[in-house]
Amino acid sequence: MTSTNLRDILRLPPDEAKMLPRGWQILGTVILVSIPDALGHRANVIGDALLAMYPRCSTVLWNRGVTGRFREPICEVIAGMPETETTHKEHGCYFRLDPCKIMFSQGNLVERTRMSALCDDEVVLDMFAGIGYFSIRIAVRSRPKKVIAIELNPTSYQYLTENVRINKVGGVVLPVHGDCELKAPENVVDRVIMGYLDVTHKQLISGICAVRSGGIMHYHEGTPEALTYQRPIRRIKDAAQACGRSVDIIGRRTVKKYAPGVLHVVIDVKIYDA
Ligand SMILES: C[S@@+](CC[C@H](N)C(=O)[O-])C[C@H]1O[C@@H](n2cnc3c(N)ncnc32)[C@H](O)[C@@H]1O
Repeated sequence: MTSTNLRDILRLPPDEAKMLPRGWQILGTVILVSIPDALGHRANVIGDALLAMYPRCSTVLWNRGVTGRFREPICEVIAGMPETETTHKEHGCYFRLDPCKIMFSQGNLVERTRMSALCDDEVVLDMFAGIGYFSIRIAVRSRPKKVIAIELNPTSYQYLTENVRINKVGGVVLPVHGDCELKAPENVVDRVIMGYLDVTHKQLISGICAVRSGGIMHYHEGTPEALTYQRPIRRIKDAAQACGRSVDIIGRRTVKKYAPGVLHVVIDVKIYDA
C-alpha cells in the first residue's frame, strides 16, 4: 500500500475530506482503492487524482470487497482505460492477472518470502495455489525438485499456467486444475502449504496425508482472536488423529488482521507416521 495525501490534491469540504482513502494497492498498471459508499459520488475525481499521481498507471478500480468461495473481487473502473488485465512484478517474479477477477493479497508478502527460503531440494504441494503466489515465488527464488500447484477456480488456473510460462518455471511447477481434496497426492511431499482461510480446516486430512513422514505442513486459518492459536492447533491434532498420524507443532505466527476480531494465522507442523 502506498500512502500519499489525496486531501491536498482534491480540496473537498472537510466532512468529505476526512473520508478520503489514505492508502491504495498498485498491481502492475492498475490502482485499487477502497472508497466509503458515502463518498461514492466522488469516485471518479478520486480515480482521476490517483492517475495524475501515478502516471505509469492506466486504470483505477473501486475495490468494493470480495465474494464467494473463490474470493472474487467486486470492483468497478472509475478512471482511465477499461482494460484491467495487467502484469504485477514482485521480488523478481511476474504475475499476470485481472484484478477485477482475481484477488492479490499483498498482506501475505512476508509469508511468501519465508516459504521461498525453505524449499531447496524439496517436493512441495501448494494446495490453494491461486495464480501461483507461493508456487512461482518458490520456483524462482529457491531450488525445489518439484512444486505441485492445485487450483480449483478456472480463471485463476488459467493465470497460474500463464504465470508458470512467463516466469519460465515449467520444468519445476506442475499446475493441476481441480479440488485439492481429490487431486492432492498421498504420502510423498516434503512440504505442503495450505494457504487459504475460509474452509481450510475441511481439507486438513488431505494436507496431512500428502506429507511423507518427517515432512512439514504450513496450515493457514482465519481464527477469532480469542481462539488464537488453540483452535487451529486443536483442528490439526484432531485431523492427524483421524488419519493415524502424529504431529509436532514447530511454529505459530500471525500474518495479518483478516477481519474485525479475526486474525490470519499460520501453524507450522511436522508430521510423522503414528
Ligand atoms: C485467496 S487464494 C490464496 C492463494 C495463495 N495460496 C496465498 O495464500 O496467497 C485461495 C485460492 O484457493 C482456491 N481454492 C478454494 N478452494 C479450493 C479447493 N477445494 N481446491 C483447490 N483450490 C481451491 C481459490 O480458488 C483461490 O484461488
